[in-house]
Parts: sequence; C-alpha cells; structure tokens
Amino acid sequence: MLNFKYLPLFGFVLGLAVFGCGCGYTLKNQELSAESVVQATYTSIQDHIILPKCSQCHGGGGEDSFSSHHALLETVRVGDPEKSHLYTVVSDGSMPPLAPMLSDDEILAIYLWIKNGAKND
Ligand code: HEC
Repeated sequence: MLNFKYLPLFGFVLGLAVFGCGCGYTLKNQELSAESVVQATYTSIQDHIILPKCSQCHGGGGEDSFSSHHALLETVRVGDPEKSHLYTVVSDGSMPPLAPMLSDDEILAIYLWIKNGAKND
C-alpha cells in the first residue's frame, strides 16, 4: 500500500534538487567582502589560493604547473574570466578536486584579477 505521509517530504527534496541546488558559483556582485583575506592581485592569489590549495598538484615545473605568473597566464584569457580555465574550473567546483569548493571571495578575487588584466602585481 502506498503511504502518502512522506509525499510533502518527497516534494521538498525534489524541489531542493531542482531549484535549490547551490551547484557552482554565480557572480552576485563585483566586490570582495570586507572580511576577505584574499585580494584581486597575483601575489595575493598565489599566497592564499594557489600555494595552499593547488600547488600540491600544480606545483613543480610540469606542464600543469602554476608556479609562476607566466605559467598561470597559460590558463587565462586576459580580461575575459568567463573564457579563462582558471576561473571556469573554480567556479564550477571542478577544481580543487576532492576538496571543498573555494569561497566566494576566493573565486571573485580570481575573476577580478583576470578581468583587470591578470597583471603581475
Ligand atoms: C588533487 C590534485 C589537484 C588539485 C589540488 C588541483 N588540481 Fe587542477 N588539475 C588537476 C589535474 C589532474 C588536472 C588535469 C585534468 C584534466 O585536464 O582533465 C587539472 C587541471 C586543471 C586546470 C585545467 C588545465 C589547464 O592548464 O588549463 C586548471 C585551470 C586547474 N586544474 C586549476 C586548478 C586550481 C586553480 C586549483 C586550486 C584551487 C587546482 N587546480 C587544484 C589536479 C589538481
């Protein structure tokens, strides 16, 4: 016999899956929060994101290395974050793999850095 007792719960879970899934990052505004540790500069992104969260896989001197400004630029289309791997892979949560997604401020810092010219600053 069907038990309809759980129907509302089922509807809720389905609704959450369809509408409420916070999958990926959507750009809400273009300013870092006041508490943000990371800033939209190469040095800050290197120190607060790349070194602690990416360089165990993207370090060294290999093809996928992000160990210099020059190397990181290989993943960037200057001025166009939406077309830059560096931004797309962190905003869709595919990098870093098997680890929590970067925070909104971290993703936004990468976005703004690329948008503002991906300078060696
Ligand atoms: C656990 C290891 C690991 C960590 C940590 C990691 N990556 Fe990756 N990353 C990979 C592997 C492996 C690939 C290649 C996979 C592929 O090309 O499909 C890759 C590919 C990439 C690419 C695409 C390749 C390219 O050069 O265009 C980008 C961009 C990238 N990672 C960025 C990051 C960033 C940014 C971080 C840190 C926030 C990070 N990754 C953390 C393993 C890792």
